[in-house]
Amino acid sequence: MELKGKSALVTGAAMGIGRAIAERLAAEGAQVLLCDVVDDAGRQAVADIQAAGGHVAYLHLDVTDPQASMAAVAHAESLFGGLDVAVNNAGISGEFRKAAEHTPETWRQVIDINLSGVFYGVRAQVPALLRRGGGSIINISSILGQVGHVDLAPYVAAKHGVVGLTRTVALDYGRENVRCNAVGPAFIKTRLIDNVPEEGRRGLAELHALGRLGEVKEVAELVSFLASDRASFLTGNYYAADGGYLSR
Ligand SMILES: NC(=O)c1ccc[n+]([C@@H]2O[C@H](COP(=O)([O-])OP(=O)(O)OC[C@H]3O[C@@H](n4cnc5c(N)ncnc54)[C@H](O)[C@@H]3O)[C@@H](O)[C@H]2O)c1
Repeated sequence: MELKGKSALVTGAAMGIGRAIAERLAAEGAQVLLCDVVDDAGRQAVADIQAAGGHVAYLHLDVTDPQASMAAVAHAESLFGGLDVAVNNAGISGEFRKAAEHTPETWRQVIDINLSGVFYGVRAQVPALLRRGGGSIINISSILGQVGHVDLAPYVAAKHGVVGLTRTVALDYGRENVRCNAVGPAFIKTRLIDNVPEEGRRGLAELHALGRLGEVKEVAELVSFLASDRASFLTGNYYAADGGYLSR
């Protein structure tokens, strides 16, 4: 229960990695506001975590709306009395096309959610963390925040941008005890991977030193650690949860 007494907000928490993060933070005793645009799944996640004894609530939040990001933080503060931890996880892969074949629309959609959404989150969260005397922000990037990938120019650009934003937030607010780190998952078993045929999944697994895909709980474990006071000297960094993908 190392997060007991802390409160947290997780975006994109209705399913996948975000849901696993919310579950893990709640299991460590944090009060957690789960935010997403898929309300049915978000409410189901909250019901499941509550059934397991967690203190959680759900709020509809589209991370591309700066005002709504402000309102979400205000909601967390009014529910829980303050905010200590924020996890900016909401993201989409976007369409797979060669770089020059992406349109301004497909570019903007991915950048809006995956990069601007993180900025709007940070912009709303930092003042709340400062009101508590500090806290921890964890931005979910990707292995593709460090290396490229065919056909995914907007996603790769956004995830690299998240790492740069993270480092700068750490520099801007470190003296005020706000830590900010990025987590970079490799290929994790979520609905994205569920749609890949068996042969393709085997090929993806082979790209990792461990020879397998990651589990959502293996990403949540790292996020929970970075949220905790055990990570008190860790800020401004990128931490891969990648089964050795980046080691090749
Ligand atoms: N699954 C992987 O292999 C993998 C690898 C590296 C990084 N990531 C990153 O991890 C994060 C979570 O991905 P996932 O694999 O769990 O995907 P997912 O699709 O299972 O979950 C993403 C969640 O974000 C929500 N979301 C989408 N747009 C939103 C918006 N505008 N506002 C609020 N919520 C929104 C979705 O409704 C969904 O609940 C993403 O940032 C993704 O880029 C995933």
